[in-house]
Parts: sequence; structure tokens; C-alpha cells
Amino acid sequence: MGDIKVTVNGKIRDVDGAGPHVRLLDWLRDEGLTGSKEGCAEGECGACAIMVARPDGPGRSRWTSVNACLPPAMAFDGQEIVTAEGLGSAPGACAVEDLHPVQREMADRGGSQCGYCTPGFVCSMAAEYYRPERNASGGDASQTGTGVVGEDHAADHECGPNGFDLHALSGNLCRCTGYRPIRDAAYALNTPVQADPLLQRQDSPAPPARHTRAVKGGARFERPATLEELLGRLAEEPEAKLVAGATDSGVEVNLRHSRPSLVLAIDRLEELRELKDDDGGIQIGAALTLSEVERELAGRIPLLDQLFPQFASRLIRNAATFGGNLATGSPIGDSAPALLALDAVVVLASAQGEREVALADYFTGYRQSVKAPGELLRAVRIPLPLAEITAFHKIAKRRFDDISSVSAAFAMQMDGGLISSVRIGLGGVAATPIRASRTEEVLAGQPWTAKTAAAAAAMMATEGTPIDDMRASALYRSAMLRQAVLRFYAQTQTALEVAS
Ligand SMILES: Cc1cc2nc3c(=O)[nH]c(=O)nc-3n(C[C@H](O)[C@H](O)[C@H](O)COP(=O)(O)OP(=O)(O)OC[C@H]3O[C@@H](n4cnc5c(N)ncnc54)[C@H](O)[C@@H]3O)c2cc1C
Ligand code: FES
Ligand code: FES
Repeated sequence: MGDIKVTVNGKIRDVDGAGPHVRLLDWLRDEGLTGSKEGCAEGECGACAIMVARPDGPGRSRWTSVNACLPPAMAFDGQEIVTAEGLGSAPGACAVEDLHPVQREMADRGGSQCGYCTPGFVCSMAAEYYRPERNASGGDASQTGTGVVGEDHAADHECGPNGFDLHALSGNLCRCTGYRPIRDAAYALNTPVQADPLLQRQDSPAPPARHTRAVKGGARFERPATLEELLGRLAEEPEAKLVAGATDSGVEVNLRHSRPSLVLAIDRLEELRELKDDDGGIQIGAALTLSEVERELAGRIPLLDQLFPQFASRLIRNAATFGGNLATGSPIGDSAPALLALDAVVVLASAQGEREVALADYFTGYRQSVKAPGELLRAVRIPLPLAEITAFHKIAKRRFDDISSVSAAFAMQMDGGLISSVRIGLGGVAATPIRASRTEEVLAGQPWTAKTAAAAAAMMATEGTPIDDMRASALYRSAMLRQAVLRFYAQTQTALEVAS
């Protein structure tokens, strides 16, 4: 038995033979576990979904669905995963024909035709089946994925009478069955029986991260044990590739043939995974996944609660991090506009020490930032108190699992009937995420009336330097900016009417 091992469906397997750039999906399939499929190799279809036991508070773990096509197999050293094959054969899962309850419901309700997408669907569905909040509520439909239902239509959680949050399936595509029978299967699920071994597994901690070091074919994979060790390695080799959730870097490997000579895994580094109140703000570790941040914040930052459901899919959010999103410097990344509106500060760390930079000063050009070689994002700090009126608008071609054409985030505070402060973050209208400074000036000190909103909307349409590309024309982007202010105004009026 080699040094690098993964427990798959209860059986320990060697990963030593795989190189640092071999994706988990390819390794699984080479091991003969061909249930997980490759549909797109870019995190879009969910045919490759599996479940992994992730930490979930002291002494507990949570079955978490993730795409297997993006992360390297070595990133799972020491971890426990379950594939569709393992669900079916889970001891005691379902005696008749050895089907797991999610597989049974999919079969009974016609949720599968060609079956290509089905192993991925059942893994996403099983993770939701075991979601502790759903089971604690006894299948109460009001218990959504986050516990918060936003006023925005795009953010509404669609829950079955059994508390099944359909967002759990937002990263799974099916080309032939149609979604109604799949939804029927999801909504027919009971809560797991107490004797279910996968349910019981959640009562003990997830496996700790291992201090993996591997070399193959000239490429190296390392998982430093501490932040200090990581920063030391980065100082020695500033060109090393950091990998957190791998939802961007995995696409680079699969579609752009990126083959960095040193991969440094940072997704389980404790120092990057803290969420705490700190120095008059909330500090969010750069390597916490968006799903973890969503759960740990539990609604404390309403603007982020509007962002989360619109960011990719549950499968992607179960791996993607704020650190990765900001590090790519993408002008259409969704977290930056929201964090700009929240006046966030990024904490950059290197072997020389730490420094803090306002996010508004972080981006310097297209996919460029002030982050220097040898530096990484350790955390994002959001100052308190928060503005009371907030909104996040994402304009994309699909309601879920799509990249923004334009995004706008608002954070506004009223005092004595006047706008005492306002920050607006924008994505998709310039080479970097930007603040809508001129629109903010139009709004500052004014009453929040239809006239003010109209003046701000006219100014908003002139913000940035939008371009024509495959997602949208410059004209459309400007029109969407104008519309975002008018929609924000309409939303706030409805909210104020409800409150009064
Ligand atoms: C199907 C799909 C849908 C998507 N939808 C959206 C969407 O709706 N909105 C959106 O904004 N994005 C979207 N993305 C992009 C991606 O999910 C995000 O950018 C995500 O936040 C990246 O985080 P990660 O941890 O996976 O980064 P990784 O892929 O691990 O890393 C990305 C880059 O950041 C660097 N990096 C990672 N962490 C750090 C750190 N702490 N310090 C310094 N550098 C670091 C890495 O070296 C790498 O260059 C989507 C991606 C996919 C595949
Ligand atoms: S193969 Fe499509 S998401 Fe992984
Ligand atoms: S059953 Fe054929 S793709 Fe879903």
C-alpha cells in the first residue's frame, strides 16, 4: 500500500499511481468506478458528482456533493468519498435490489432515461437527503438550504414538502428525462432511518487533512500542514500554483492544459478556514467554501445571502472559495461587487508578514491585482455595522449556474429620511470590478425618492467602460445598469411598505 490513499465506498485505495494533475474523476474511472461520468469537464453538468465527508463543526462531518472532474485526485489523500456505486451497496441502505432510497425514488418516478446524468444526480440528491438541517426539521419545508429566503425571485429556495432544497440539484443537468420526474423523486424522499450508516457517519469527525507530498513526471503536489510552511514554500517558489476549491484551476487543467510544476493545496489549511468577529468586523477565511460561509454566517450578512444562491450551483459552492474568486481578478466574478458594496478589506499574507488592502484598491487591471508574487489571500474582512438596505442583482442568461453578464450590489444607509451613505459594486462593465462612484455621488445626501432613483439610474448607465462580447453588448450592459437602480428602488419601496 502506498502513501497516498483515499477511502472510496468504504474501501481504501492507493492514489500513488496518479500524477498531480490527474483529476479525481479520471482516477475513479481508472479504478473501475465508472458510475461518475464526464459530461463537460468544466463543472457545468454534474455528471461527475460524488460525495465527500467534510468537517461540520466539532466532532461532526457532513456528506458534501462536489464535482469530481475539477479537483486533483491527490487532494483527497486520507479522505472518504462515496460514489453512486457506494450508495447502491451501502449496507442496510435498502434491502430490495440494494438500491439507496434516492436511487429507488429516481427509478420509481421515472427520473432516469439514458442514465448518463443519473449517478451525478443521485449523489447530489443523497447529500441533500443527509443534510442535517433538513433531517433536524423532520422534513419541514420551511428549512431551506440557508435558513434564509431572500425577497429576490432568483434567490428563492424551492423546497419540497419534505424540506428538500432543489438548489441541491442546481449543478446537475439532464438532457433527456426532463426535470419534473427528478423533482418528484426528490420531493418523495423521507428522512433517513437512524440505522443508515451514511447518516451515522455524520456523527463523527471528517478525516483530518494529510500532509501530502508527491512527485510524478516532474510535477509536484504538496499540502503544507501550516500557513507558515505554506508561506515558506511560496517564498521559495512564488510561481507555485495554489489550489483551493479547484473550480477555476481545474478548468484550466482540463480545457487549457495548464500543468504547473508545483501545486500547493490550501483548501484544508486551518488558518485560512476561520470565520470570526474581529476588530469591528467579520473576518472570513479565504479557503472556507461558499457553502460553509453561507452556513456559518447564518443570515448575518443579508447581501451575501442574496449572492450565494446566484453564484454557480450548489456543487460549485461546495468547493469554491472567496480567496479563489478574488485571486482570479475576473471582472465578472460575483463576490467582488458584493464585497465592494460591503466595503471589504482583503488580508494578504506572505513570508514577510501581513498587510490589509481595501478591496476598492485591490484590482489594478484586467485579471491583475496588488497581490505580489509570494503573497496569498488569507481572509476577507467585512466591517460592521452593515448598511441596512442591500441588494445583489445578477444579470445572466440562465437563472442558475451561469456567469454574470452584469452584476450590481447595493448597500445603502438612511438617516432622517436622507441617504447617509451608499456603496455600489459593479461587475461586467469594466476590466475590473468597480465602484459606481459617480452614481454614489448622485445619491449621497438625497431623499430616496423616484426622482432621485431616476437621476441615479441615468448616471449609472454611464458607469464603467462596457464592451460587446459573447455574453452581452455594451448597450445592453448599460441598459442593465440603469435598470438595476430602478429595480433596487422598486424593491426597497416594497420592503418599506411591508415594514410599515
Ligand atoms: C461551472 C462553474 C460555474 C461558475 N460560476 C461562477 C459564478 O456564478 N460566479 C463567479 O464569480 N464565479 C463562478 N465560477 C468561477 C469559480 O467557481 C470561482 O471563481 C471560485 O470562487 C474560485 O474559487 P476556488 O477556490 O475554486 O479557486 P481555485 O480554482 O482553487 O483557484 C483559482 C485561482 O485563485 C488562486 N487562489 C485560490 N485561493 C487563493 C488564495 N487564498 N490566495 C491567493 N490565490 C488563491 C489559485 O492559485 C488560482 O489561480 C464558476 C466556475 C465553474 C466551473
Ligand atoms: S463532467 Fe460536467 S461537471 Fe464534471
Ligand atoms: S437521463 Fe439522459 S441525460 Fe439525464
